[in-house]
Amino acid sequence: MSRIAVVPGSFDPVTLGHIDVIGRAANIFDEVHVLVVHNPAKAALLPIAQRVSLIEQSIAEADLPGNIKVTSWSVGLLVDYCTEVGASVIVKGIRSQIDVAYETPMAIVNRNLAGVETVFLLTSPENAHVSSSLVRQVAGLGGDVAPYVPRAVADFLQRG
Ligand code: PNS
Repeated sequence: MSRIAVVPGSFDPVTLGHIDVIGRAANIFDEVHVLVVHNPAKAALLPIAQRVSLIEQSIAEADLPGNIKVTSWSVGLLVDYCTEVGASVIVKGIRSQIDVAYETPMAIVNRNLAGVETVFLLTSPENAHVSSSLVRQVAGLGGDVAPYVPRAVADFLQRG
C-alpha cells in the first residue's frame, strides 16, 4: 500500500525549516502532499496561490525528491483533505516544547476526527529559531532574510 503523508501549514512564507521537514518526509513516505491551509488565527502576508508557487520554486531549488506535490485547501477540515486523497499521516516539524504544546491538541483532534495520525519530525538544529512570523517581521522592516528562507522567497520578498 502506498503511504501518503500531508505536510500542512500556513507557509506564509515557506522557510528553510519547512523545506528541511518536507524533504525528510519525502524520504520516509511514498508520497508527500504539501498543503497550504489558511489559518484564521494569523494575519496573512501572501495570497495562498503565491505561497504555493514559492513552495514549488523552493522544492525545485533544493532538488528534493519527485514524490512531492504542492496544493492548497480552503473548504474544510485538514482531515477532510487527508480522507479525500487517502492520506493516513500528517507530518509536522517540531522546534521546541512550545511547538509540542501547540501541536498536541491538533494532533489529538485530527486523530479523533478521522483516525489520521500525526508524526512529528524534529527540525534540524540550525533551523530551530526560524519561523515565518520572524521572516515576515524582518522582511517588513527591511532586514536580510536570506539566511532563513530559500533563495526564491528571499528574491520575492526583496523585490516586493
Ligand atoms: O503553519 P500553521 O499556521 O501553524 O498551520 C496550522 C494549520 C493550518 C495546519 C491548522 O490551523 C489547521 O490544520 N487548519 C485547518 C482547519 C482544521 O482542520 N482545524 C481542526 C484541526 S486542528
